[in-house]
Amino acid sequence: MPHSNLNTLLSADALERVRAPLSQAWTLPPAAYTDPAVYALEEDRLFARSWQCVARVDQLKAPGDFITVDLPQHPIVVVRDLSGDLHAMSRVCVHRAMPVASGCGNARRFVCPYHNWTYELNGQLRSAPMMDGAEAFDTGAWRLAPLRLEVWQGFVFVNPDAEAEPLAPQLAGLDALIARYDFAELEVAETLHFDSPWNWKILTENFMEAYHHIGTHRQTFERVYPARDASVPDNGGAPWSFLHMPGKHDEAGPTSFPRLNQDERNALFAACVFPNFLFAASSTSGAWYQLHPRAHDQMDLEIHILLHPSLREAMSDASLKEMRGMFHAIHTEDIEANAGPWQGLQAAGTRQGRLSPFEKSIWQLNQLWLDTLTAATSSA
Ligand code: FES
Ligand SMILES: [Fe+2]
Repeated sequence: MPHSNLNTLLSADALERVRAPLSQAWTLPPAAYTDPAVYALEEDRLFARSWQCVARVDQLKAPGDFITVDLPQHPIVVVRDLSGDLHAMSRVCVHRAMPVASGCGNARRFVCPYHNWTYELNGQLRSAPMMDGAEAFDTGAWRLAPLRLEVWQGFVFVNPDAEAEPLAPQLAGLDALIARYDFAELEVAETLHFDSPWNWKILTENFMEAYHHIGTHRQTFERVYPARDASVPDNGGAPWSFLHMPGKHDEAGPTSFPRLNQDERNALFAACVFPNFLFAASSTSGAWYQLHPRAHDQMDLEIHILLHPSLREAMSDASLKEMRGMFHAIHTEDIEANAGPWQGLQAAGTRQGRLSPFEKSIWQLNQLWLDTLTAATSSA
């Protein structure tokens, strides 16, 4: 279904202010967050064609382990098959569209609960009962629709677009910045769930700037990672952004990243792979903010705490609980910085604001957003 172009939904003047160099740039206009038509365009132009992170390899260790995820317009299942290969595919039954899996678990095959059509873990239809008499029906010709899948740093990414450029080469610059962080070795230790009834870009922007440490986190992050010390390297237009937050402490505690130098050990970073893969690391732990938009005013959010298995093993349950509490406390502060602007963006007189040069990641992500949503397409 062709949607209008972004240029028909937002004024040319507003878009030009977003396009301006960082020192002159403005925020996205309020309708970019609040207009359901903009969200519909994002579903068609952005999420239908982007690499999105859906799991960690450590969540799919054993043959048969699977996870279901709802990407915009694409309910999928991600599974490790019996020979150890990972697959991502639609979980919509090819018979009459019942989802063939839910939640997560371990399966030898997927059996649709409606009429028992049974699929191999690679999505191939294996059997369909009582179809004798159906002419020209060959189970071998039917399968759950596959999605592209790539593993990067232990994160499992999928892309609904069969023509998409491979992900890893686009992240070479980001790889260089996190070369001593061995994310592939980490495992999910804890997961926190949060209700997030606001536009997905509000959280993304909040995640990618340290400017708000002076307000939202003045009693917490600002003392260790002052807003003024943070910086964002150029990304050359590549689909990622990296926020470096040097720390004022001399970190000497147990680490999930043994190869870090002392400056890295003291620092915190946050990074985004456009559009919605958010991850972060201190010396102690990694974090993956798993965000999936649901509508213009709703997203799902899970915060996964990632630890090196040897560190997790050495930790008491009490200290893991304490760590979970810290993540909860910081995000509780950020919820105010999400819910407040969401309310404000819907007020009648709200207009575009000016960006601080300390919000360079937001500027970078805005350029990528505009590039994607204003690009000419053959289908439009
Ligand atoms: S809908 Fe799945 S078997 Fe009928
Ligand atoms: Fe924050």
